[in-house]
Amino acid sequence: MSPVYDFDQRVILITGATGGMGQALSLALAAEGAQLVLCGRREAALGKLYDRIAQLGPEPAMAPAELAALTPDAAAQLVRQIEESFGRLDGLCHCAATLPALTPLRNLAPAAWYESLQVNLNAAFVLTQACLGLLQASPDAAVLFSTDGIAREGRAYYGPYAVAKAGLEALMRVLAHELEANTPVRVNAVDPGPIRSALRTRISAEPPARFAPPASALPAYLYLLSGAARGVTGGSWAASEPGPWDAG
Ligand SMILES: NC(=O)c1ccc[n+]([C@@H]2O[C@H](COP(=O)([O-])OP(=O)(O)OC[C@H]3O[C@@H](n4cnc5c(N)ncnc54)[C@H](OP(=O)(O)O)[C@@H]3O)[C@@H](O)[C@H]2O)c1
Repeated sequence: MSPVYDFDQRVILITGATGGMGQALSLALAAEGAQLVLCGRREAALGKLYDRIAQLGPEPAMAPAELAALTPDAAAQLVRQIEESFGRLDGLCHCAATLPALTPLRNLAPAAWYESLQVNLNAAFVLTQACLGLLQASPDAAVLFSTDGIAREGRAYYGPYAVAKAGLEALMRVLAHELEANTPVRVNAVDPGPIRSALRTRISAEPPARFAPPASALPAYLYLLSGAARGVTGGSWAASEPGPWDAG
């Protein structure tokens, strides 16, 4: 049985909210009382998620954004809207990712490289940077990146996705060091493991049922976003392995 955390009054921004992990996480956080800001690129899918979440918890806000085109100005505007609507931000969880067709680097179109680094790494940086002012004003805030074991393996044909995830892990560590003294912001990364989602289906010939549902990674995501993880920073965690989330 997973521990239950108190997310009442906590405002949390989730990218990739309409994806497999993002959706499972959004529904779980809403059920625990979190005030969510749902970031996704498909307004119809965001609208459907909005309806489900509004039945579970506080009415969420929608933040449509195409991360391939996210600029610092657009990120700043999104954060201004959060400040105007809620006056605070206590969590930022990056679940968005794009995985181009698996291709040897020799044949990879440079445009696919640029787009993957933009969505998977640059947009995560730009959005995190824009959120820092509000996060630092929170009494207890969390930044959580979704990583992948491939970041450290460097597996063939995963080119820009693997490079972007390795970059995200470095970004996470740099930021954690910069914020560890005298700020309430902790910064971590979590690998959900092979989970059943659109991203997994695109690259795997195996039947989706062979993979664990996104809910399997929820204990790690919820713990790292919750006040129970206060002081835990700079870690790259594997949701499928035992962790402090098992203690509750
Ligand atoms: N699935 C796995 O086995 C696995 C394993 C290790 C790590 N991860 C990581 O876990 C996280 C969640 O992945 P997932 O499995 O939930 O994948 P998913 O179901 O494919 O969700 C990815 C999300 O990212 C959004 N997205 C993609 N490109 C975007 C863009 N240009 N602008 C805005 N949003 C964009 C997608 O939007 P649309 O719905 O509109 O496409 C979707 O909501 C990712 O960071 C992934 O790298 C997953």
